[in-house]
Amino acid sequence: MTGTRMYVCICNALNDRKVAIALNSGAETVSDVFRHHGCSPRCGSCVEHMRDKVSVASQSQAEATPALELAIAAD
Ligand code: FES
Repeated sequence: MTGTRMYVCICNALNDRKVAIALNSGAETVSDVFRHHGCSPRCGSCVEHMRDKVSVASQSQAEATPALELAIAAD
């Protein structure tokens, strides 16, 4: 099933899938997510939302939930 991808960072065209890939590859901070994709914040309006995604991902990993893998596989 192909779902609609929501942009998390418009300036860098990072959608939720790209963020999930970075997090699944070991990104632990917002900076890590940008670095994974070879970009950096521009306007900064996405940072709060991205921080929430990083926080949720770290909680999920702590609970050993494969949610990120499912999100990536759903593409
Ligand atoms: S929306 Fe991410 S830096 Fe502007």
